Amino acid sequence: MDIKLMPISKADAKLLYEAWGYNRDNFRYLSAKSQESIEDAVEYINGIVSNPDSLCFHICDRKSGKILGIIKANVEGHRALVGYVVDQAYWSNGVATQALKTLLAVIEGTPKIQRVWATCAIDNPASFKVLEKCGFVREALLKKWIIYPSQGAEPHDNYSYYYQKNA
Ligand SMILES: CC(C)(COP(=O)(O)OP(=O)(O)OC[C@H]1O[C@@H](n2cnc3c(N)ncnc32)[C@H](O)[C@@H]1OP(=O)(O)O)[C@@H](O)C(=O)NCCC(=O)NCCS
Repeated sequence: MDIKLMPISKADAKLLYEAWGYNRDNFRYLSAKSQESIEDAVEYINGIVSNPDSLCFHICDRKSGKILGIIKANVEGHRALVGYVVDQAYWSNGVATQALKTLLAVIEGTPKIQRVWATCAIDNPASFKVLEKCGFVREALLKKWIIYPSQGAEPHDNYSYYYQKNA
């Protein structure tokens, strides 16, 4: 599949919900709670666009324009924490890898970002394979790092990954 990134706007909650927010399986390894309605998608989008420095995009099929997922970098000062979701129907087609490489090109052109990093569950190989295919290097094991609401209240261990910018 060939993808392109499209900017996200606050008005996109219905699009996002119907593209991937509807599917609880997409939330197994997310710190966001799964979405039960378009209203939940509104809350989710408001959360991610509330930081004007952050970079967030729909991942779209280049030909049809269909939304396949989301990719974002939460930017705080010189740090950018990247994350992504692809709808389950499109897993293992290289979608997240292409999307992350495209986002990294944007980050390469953003001088104020100096640390690019990501965390992922130690039992989510699809995610850490995406990171490794894009040049991220595992730097640490973060014990009891994160709670995944769809898995309950227990914190989970995560790997931390670092990406060395070229510029
Ligand atoms: C993680 C996620 C984004 C990957 O998206 P994707 O478009 O399927 O990723 P890609 O196809 O680019 O790459 C996935 C790689 O993992 C591999 N993979 C998938 N499931 C795997 C598994 N259970 N064990 C080992 N490898 C696996 C794929 O074969 C592929 O590797 P390859 O290119 O060497 O064949 C997607 O599974 C997803 O959205 N999951 C739910 C949300 C999530 O976990 N987000 C990340 C939070 S850190």
